[in-house]
Amino acid sequence: MADLVHGPASFSTQANALLRKNFTFQKRDIKSNIRLISVPIILCLLLVFLQNWVNKELDKPWNRCGCKCVGKNDEGKCEEVCGIEYSDLNQAVSCSIPSPLEWPPLLQIPESTYRAVKTDFISYEDLPDDSCKISGSCPATTLLTGTNKTLGESMGRNLFSSGSTVDYSDIFYSLAYNALGSESQTKYLNFLEAAFFSNLTVYNVRSQCSPYFTFSLPLEFGSVSVQQEISCVKGLHLWRNSSHEINDELHKGYRNGNPERKINEIIAAYDFLNSNRNGFNVTIWYNSSYKNGKSNQPLALTRVPRSVNLASNAYMQDLLGPSARMLFEFVKEMPKPETKLNLDFASLLGPLFFTWVVSQLFPVVLIALVYEKQQKLRIMMKMHGLGDGPYWLISYAYFLFVASIYMLCFVIFGSLVGLKFFLLNDYAIQFVFYFIYINLQESLAFLVAAFFSNVQAATVIGYIMVFANGLLSSFLFQFFLQDETFSRGWIIVMELYPGFSLFRGFYEFSQYAFKGNYLGTDGMRWKDLSDGKNGMKEVLIIMLVQWLVFLFLGYYVDQIASSGKDPLCFMWHSRKRPSPSSRKHSFRRQGSKVFVQMEKPDIAQERERVEQLLESSTGHAVICDNLEKVYPGKDGNPEKFAVRGLSLALPQGECFGMLGPNGAGKTTFINMMIGLIKPSSGTAYAQGMDIRTDMDMIYTNMGVCPQHDLLWEILTGREHLLFYGRLKNLKGADLTQAVEESLKSVNLFHGGVADKKAGKYSGGMKRRLSVAISLIGDPKVVYMDEPSTGLDPSSRSNLWNVVKRAKQDRAIILTTHSMEEAEHLCDRLGIFVDGSLQCIGNPKELKARYGGSYVFTMTTSSDNEEEVEHMVRRLSPNANRIYHLSGTQKFELPKQEVRIADVFQAVEKAKSRFTVYAWGLADTTLEDVFIKVAHTAQAFNVLS
Ligand SMILES: *[C@@H]1O[C@H](CO)[C@@H](O)[C@H](O)[C@H]1NC(C)=O
Ligand SMILES: *[C@@H]1O[C@H](CO)[C@@H](O)[C@H](O)[C@H]1NC(C)=O
Ligand SMILES: *[C@@H]1O[C@H](CO)[C@@H](O)[C@H](O)[C@H]1NC(C)=O
Ligand SMILES: *[C@@H]1O[C@H](CO)[C@@H](O)[C@H](O)[C@H]1NC(C)=O
Repeated sequence: MADLVHGPASFSTQANALLRKNFTFQKRDIKSNIRLISVPIILCLLLVFLQNWVNKELDKPWNRCGCKCVGKNDEGKCEEVCGIEYSDLNQAVSCSIPSPLEWPPLLQIPESTYRAVKTDFISYEDLPDDSCKISGSCPATTLLTGTNKTLGESMGRNLFSSGSTVDYSDIFYSLAYNALGSESQTKYLNFLEAAFFSNLTVYNVRSQCSPYFTFSLPLEFGSVSVQQEISCVKGLHLWRNSSHEINDELHKGYRNGNPERKINEIIAAYDFLNSNRNGFNVTIWYNSSYKNGKSNQPLALTRVPRSVNLASNAYMQDLLGPSARMLFEFVKEMPKPETKLNLDFASLLGPLFFTWVVSQLFPVVLIALVYEKQQKLRIMMKMHGLGDGPYWLISYAYFLFVASIYMLCFVIFGSLVGLKFFLLNDYAIQFVFYFIYINLQESLAFLVAAFFSNVQAATVIGYIMVFANGLLSSFLFQFFLQDETFSRGWIIVMELYPGFSLFRGFYEFSQYAFKGNYLGTDGMRWKDLSDGKNGMKEVLIIMLVQWLVFLFLGYYVDQIASSGKDPLCFMWHSRKRPSPSSRKHSFRRQGSKVFVQMEKPDIAQERERVEQLLESSTGHAVICDNLEKVYPGKDGNPEKFAVRGLSLALPQGECFGMLGPNGAGKTTFINMMIGLIKPSSGTAYAQGMDIRTDMDMIYTNMGVCPQHDLLWEILTGREHLLFYGRLKNLKGADLTQAVEESLKSVNLFHGGVADKKAGKYSGGMKRRLSVAISLIGDPKVVYMDEPSTGLDPSSRSNLWNVVKRAKQDRAIILTTHSMEEAEHLCDRLGIFVDGSLQCIGNPKELKARYGGSYVFTMTTSSDNEEEVEHMVRRLSPNANRIYHLSGTQKFELPKQEVRIADVFQAVEKAKSRFTVYAWGLADTTLEDVFIKVAHTAQAFNVLS
């Protein structure tokens, strides 16, 4: 084995190289940095702006306490009247109310379509017929029970009076005799009784209703005056044998509990228990589920006192006679001071915006990873010795670092602009939540990146996901979150999707912040995690577990993908492969059988040399042993042999040139040698290490100049070389020196070219940089795939000098289409046609072997063509015309038949007879050899 100048780079050296490269890359990538930073700033500012706007709107005169918008003036602005205590229900919430109003106590009456009637699922005959629903005249029912039926029924009769006339001078007093009720729902606060401000009817509940009964009540409440229409509803009381029966009946009539959606609701039910003349004992059923909109508080409590009063009155009348009464005139709220109306709008909108802000990191990581994959930079780095371990560790840590900085800026900025979302919730919980989530997101990006090979696709999908995440979360998922009846189990299932768990976390934060702001308390604290309704704990657990799972999966898939297989392959098949040794054997035999018949002596000799070398195991730089690559046939096409049984040995210090027409398999060969694809059979050894198994070791001592330049568009030439130099374990002064020499040698040093971005380089400059990269760090084996394509002549000769100097102590395999280059650089050449070598040898040998003729060219007027031909035939009877066009003719003259002096004489003679415009005699060039070999080989292949 050849001695190594530097050992392979250690883990930390590789990590350091990659880290520095990543930082430089980040620094350079100004556009995406700006985008990254600006999104949270813009969204935060937008929130602040919206919050201010909301605050301003809330502060508009008609929202302000004591003012009211009474109409629009000509300009469409509000004409306001101020100086009143409060003007409507909305204002009542926040305005000071020093002397609350008095309201008649009301009963909660079921809506007329829901009132209890006879149905097939409740078997009581005493309920009214459901025909009443059509006319809307269904009575409102109360249910009674108790130990003494006689007493109970008699009290029932007293519940609702037949009504007495209203004394308009003292309405409240009269109403104490006439129970009022409403179908409306109560509000949070009861400064204003909602019944008088809704367009629903207010009922007078009577034991009998005369048809067309209505009357109108003029009500004065402070500055508010209402003319209230009152209708009649019949109050029905029905006896039940026990409280069980009542429970059963109520349960069956309940809106949600009833599958047939037939609903039987009642006003209230009374159980008089053991009441008798000596004592009054009663329990009352009332419906506490009447709600205001989405809030979960039971609101009907304010309608309960009247039903208690009714029962007490009934008992007293039973005891003392019909005139006995406990008068219940009004209810009123406690006085209260003004509270500032504020709505933490930012916290409510926050989850959507913040979901966008945080998930924005996902495409960033994804794109960076896919970019390195698409540009084949990952494999390029690997080929120059970057191990998978350092790559993973540094890439992961690096993106985590970027994400952490990003989140830190985000939280600090949000706090600075005063968003309650950040200020009120415990920073420690926020930290844990963000930390786990960015890890989860990153490992997900690593996993997903394995399935993309195109940056554009990744970008589009990545950003669509960001937007969809936010929108789906806040318009679908939030809806489920707020729906109490939606199963918590399903919520957890939905949270398995990371976008939803992120949103859930933000949602909880925002709920706590909103509440904290509203009530003037703290947001979420650690102790709140144990709160059953707080989803934060489950979210944290889910995310933590997913993070670990994705990380493992991502690594696994990456390993499979980087070993050249399809990441999904384990899903559809696990092909059994023969073990390497048995495979080698069988193919060896098969191979020799095939090639023995048609192999040329030089190829066979090379094969023998390889076999000897393999046995003696003397160190050659590169040994290919019957290397073969077969692409399986697709869509009914036969298998394609890209490389068939190639044997080749290269000592140190040799440059081997591979010539061949396009599609001959040269690049496939190089790709096998550099580990991009696995050989189908056979193997090769570089520095004594097997390409099938020791690729990682080979990489540390190998240089590659791929056919297409694999460069980071925004890194400079110098940065490329520094990075690859570090990967090759160059350090300190050595590194700087190597990089400078390298830059000078490929003519990229002067004029600041070295510090220009590679994306701005011309094609030739990129090419030269690629060559410089392949040579940095003194690799022992270098592969160059058409290194000089697209170079101008002067850069090309520069490049040749570089390669010539470089080949002294290393083996170089290069493919080229330029014969000049091959002749100039290579010690040996092989012509490769249809996957196998046709000949091998140094350029002179080849020319001698294949080109045993001169090429004679002469241009005359077309009249003299025949004479020229005669002349040539005289010189050499076996001459062969290979080209003929309007007076210009080319002949091949076998060398053994002609002497050059004869040719000159013949031409002199000819000149005296007719005009010769031009003539020439040339030895065969390599080009002629190439064409000849390629043609014969292809012709042979067509024949066979
Ligand atoms: C039931 O109530 C009635 C009327 O109040 C009373 O006369 C009767 O004694 C009571 N019956 C029992 C068993 O207490
Ligand atoms: C209630 O009790 C009375 C008298 O005991 C009985 O006639 C009636 O069937 C009972 N009602 C039900 C629904 O059980
Ligand atoms: C109680 O009120 C709720 C909400 O309005 C309604 O869905 C339910 O059916 C009512 N239940 C009864 C027994 O009236
Ligand atoms: C009222 O009824 C309850 C339930 O049946 C009973 O526990 C309680 O002793 C009764 N109270 C009186 C004063 O009878």
